[in-house]
Amino acid sequence: MKRIIKLWVLVSMVVCMLPACSKAQNPPPEKEETPKDRNVLIVYLSRTKNTKAIAEMIHQKVGGTLVALELETPYPEDYQAIVQQVAQENESGFLPPLKTRIDTIQNYDVVFVGFPTWGMQLPPPMKSFLTQHDLSGKTIVPFNTNAGYGIGSSFETVKALAPNSKLLEGFTTRGGVERDGVYFVMEGEKEKQAQEEITKWLRRVGLIK
Ligand SMILES: Cc1cc2nc3c(=O)[nH]c(=O)nc-3n(C[C@H](O)[C@H](O)[C@H](O)COP(=O)(O)O)c2cc1C
Repeated sequence: MKRIIKLWVLVSMVVCMLPACSKAQNPPPEKEETPKDRNVLIVYLSRTKNTKAIAEMIHQKVGGTLVALELETPYPEDYQAIVQQVAQENESGFLPPLKTRIDTIQNYDVVFVGFPTWGMQLPPPMKSFLTQHDLSGKTIVPFNTNAGYGIGSSFETVKALAPNSKLLEGFTTRGGVERDGVYFVMEGEKEKQAQEEITKWLRRVGLIK
């Protein structure tokens, strides 16, 4: 009887040294992916720095590379002039050439794209960015500031210009109202409120814990 038990123990030891069995008994601990492990790119367009402030808050929470979109020919300073120019560009489909080019776009898994609402649309420079970079297979996360009239068609246009990407729920908050002389508003209570909303949103979409 003792010999049978010994033999049985020996056989089970040998069997359990086989790779399949040892795996089943001892599965490798699954590495939990944190946003820090993913390669995050945060690209934003901002004129009066409200969207920039939101981009910096996101950057603080998820890390990654923060890039401001720059144009080859900057827009006019004058508000009425930029409104007119953007309306014409939206009408004609003109894509303003960018100074910014991300040559290492293939290295990023998650791409945040931030922009103000312009003429209830996605601003032309962000259309240029999405058209010029291949974001297939990546996760895109839009964020926005506006004067209180909302995102318009901007998030839909992001989807249309990156049809092979996974689009996560976007974030939007009220920013400045340049038309009325209200420029930068992301300070004091508003800044605190935006920080809290961003934390909740990033948790909801699973990008922070
Ligand atoms: C050319 C232009 C067009 C705009 N059009 C809109 C609009 O259609 N709806 C809106 O709510 N705000 C509009 N705004 C206001 C901006 O979206 C808002 O001030 C935003 O917070 C600016 O972001 P920034 O500070 O990052 O530039 C417009 C601003 C500019 C300069």
